[in-house]
Amino acid sequence: MTATTAYQSGFGNEFATEALPGALPQHRNSPQRVAHGLYAEQVSGTAFTAPRSHNRRSWLYRIRPAAMHGAFERIDNGRLVGRFDHPAPPPNQLRWDPLPMPAAPTDFIDGWTTMAGNGAPEAQAGCAIHLYAANADMRGRYFYSADGELLIVPQRGRLRIATELGLVEIEPQEIAVIPRGIRFQVALPDGEARGYICENHGALLQLPDMGPIGSNGLANPRDFLTPTAAYEDLEGDFELVAKFCGNLWRARIGHSPLDVVAWHGNYAPYKYDLRHFNTIGSISYDHPDPSIFLVLHAPSDTPGVSTLDFVIFPPRWLAAENTFRPPWFHRNVASEFMGLIHGEYDAKAGGFVPGGASLHNCMSGHGPDAGTFDKASAADTSTPHKVDATMAFMFETRHVIRPTEQALRSPQLQGDYQACWAGIRKNFKAPA
Ligand SMILES: [Fe+2]
Repeated sequence: MTATTAYQSGFGNEFATEALPGALPQHRNSPQRVAHGLYAEQVSGTAFTAPRSHNRRSWLYRIRPAAMHGAFERIDNGRLVGRFDHPAPPPNQLRWDPLPMPAAPTDFIDGWTTMAGNGAPEAQAGCAIHLYAANADMRGRYFYSADGELLIVPQRGRLRIATELGLVEIEPQEIAVIPRGIRFQVALPDGEARGYICENHGALLQLPDMGPIGSNGLANPRDFLTPTAAYEDLEGDFELVAKFCGNLWRARIGHSPLDVVAWHGNYAPYKYDLRHFNTIGSISYDHPDPSIFLVLHAPSDTPGVSTLDFVIFPPRWLAAENTFRPPWFHRNVASEFMGLIHGEYDAKAGGFVPGGASLHNCMSGHGPDAGTFDKASAADTSTPHKVDATMAFMFETRHVIRPTEQALRSPQLQGDYQACWAGIRKNFKAPA
């Protein structure tokens, strides 16, 4: 690998990058002969005729075309699930402890456990939610998902993601998005890694419109980083693993597919440091709807309704006076899968730990536990309070999130989650 980690700044920009001087054609995409004997190849992430503001594609200049590999054959899916029509989703509030780290050598791909999902990859609708726990580098194997872009949220350990378009390194409290179809290989600089993946089958993630917030705030576009070109010129007996229509497939490949020497376009991996999020909240009373914490969303065909929202709850000041400051009790039409990257979540006094997860589906009531309610109801709200050293997030979807059978039978499923609300006292006293 000629790679050093270097990035270009901006969200969805028209990037242009070359690892060898002169490799990138100028003023055309597909010259009769590409410099250095490279092959030109386009990869599209949206329909050719998508509106310009949503249109994503990149041109890759590579040592060999992506078509060069053996026939794919099915391999075992392990704990990866691609269909969500079974079992019947319960309306219970659900919460899980973190996955244990694997005992046997397990690379990033073998370490996926699908927890939940909705829609279907072949319909390009909905999403799949996976946890990963790994303790080995991917060696001699490369992966891509044709089923959706991968939003990767590390909770423990760094990931070094070598992609066709360059090298992305992330640590907990950063995220990476690997576009649908882009091939990559993951190494674990810390020897082990654990986290969350949302595989977005639908429209690509994008920055939200800002409305009255204006032109600055939330996740600022310049904080998104896309790698510069970096390539491998490697030959050997390698394996290309594809995720297609919910299943894993394997093909032999005689070279590294990470052989893109130069590329240009706006369909590319990116990373973002959640600690850069510009958090907005009330400076008078109440707090706004949690849409104020939106980092990225995948829009649906209905205006204002996302297929997928990626929301975070970062450190922030709570200043609202005479206000119940933690998240209120609520039921939503949307369904919420939460994870905790770091610290504590301010609606729960315990039980929701880093690496764990919770699922509150459509119209399932939830909110602060009894201890949090009592504490926040009695707190002095005449002075600001900092919620510090925390980073929770939510994958929120328009459609019901259906837990997999293995998630419902998991030893990590907490059997007593509802008990956190059982101690809420009846305070009501009718006037005499
Ligand atoms: Fe909620």
